[in-house]
Amino acid sequence: MGLNIRGRSFLTLLDYTPEEIEYLIDLGAEFKRMKRCGVEHKWLSDKQIVLLFEKTSTRTRCSFEVGARDLGMGVTFLDPGSSQMGKKESLADTAKVLGRLYDGIEYRGFKQSVVEDLAKYSGVPVWNGLTDDFHPTQMLADMLTAREEFGRDLRGRKLTFFGDARNNVANSLMVACAKLGLHYCACGPKELMPSEALIEKCCAIAAETGAELEFTDDPACGARDCDILYTDIWLSMGEPAELWEQRIALLRPYQVNGALIAQAKPTAIFLHCLPAFHDRNTTVGEEIYERFGLEAMEVTDEVFLGPQARQFREAENRMHTIKAVLWATLQ
Ligand code: CP
Repeated sequence: MGLNIRGRSFLTLLDYTPEEIEYLIDLGAEFKRMKRCGVEHKWLSDKQIVLLFEKTSTRTRCSFEVGARDLGMGVTFLDPGSSQMGKKESLADTAKVLGRLYDGIEYRGFKQSVVEDLAKYSGVPVWNGLTDDFHPTQMLADMLTAREEFGRDLRGRKLTFFGDARNNVANSLMVACAKLGLHYCACGPKELMPSEALIEKCCAIAAETGAELEFTDDPACGARDCDILYTDIWLSMGEPAELWEQRIALLRPYQVNGALIAQAKPTAIFLHCLPAFHDRNTTVGEEIYERFGLEAMEVTDEVFLGPQARQFREAENRMHTIKAVLWATLQ
């Protein structure tokens, strides 16, 4: 504890040192303890924040709203239909206005450059609630959940991401693991591996922290000695539905199922950022079943409802760790 990140934006973990990331996770754990014990912490009752969502959300939006209210803040939610940004008003102009009205801005949308420009022009802390490239607040929750299982020091633990290893969550996991000294394994088809540029950055970080980075298209290699099996939806927000057929063909071998998790350590846990296609109880899940005959996609019910699943604790930890980011940057 004791680090000062007041006034900083939270756009990607690449901007943060390992000590700063550990500090935010520690703080998230402390907020969780306080909430559980009923200790009031309305420490930011003079602050107002705005949440800009250009993509849909359940966990991120609710975590920002509940976290901000627990801290005593006022919150405004804007969806794409409720603001002028990008239609009648430029991003820079919108950022300058919001920066005069609010103490901080959350943004979920498409290009990473948008969240970076919001930070550049608003003059207040901006928090990345997911872009096409990164999902940094998700990482704090994931690492807190892993710590709750394996202890505070996660160095050397093997986390394997199965699936589209160049999506925003996988990119962020590679950065988080490199920063915190874990063994990160990207397990997926060669076509869906992270960019060379990001791998190069993460290798340089890993050389400093002792992290290990592994890239494989063999699910058995990914599962071997694995402590944390992680997966995500096979088609990310913003990608066209026409890609389902191609993506399913590529990613079917990387489904996290009973046979795969049995090859990991017996103490291994399963994480998923959610939402997950683990059954047919969604419109998309039912459509996929009708078109392709799949009962589940990236994870089966056997794993999702099994004893190693921790995804709902992980979802709760979104709120505690987002609260940590809000407090640390606005205090
Ligand atoms: N994990 C996550 O970002 O969930 P939402 O899309 O529901 O916010």
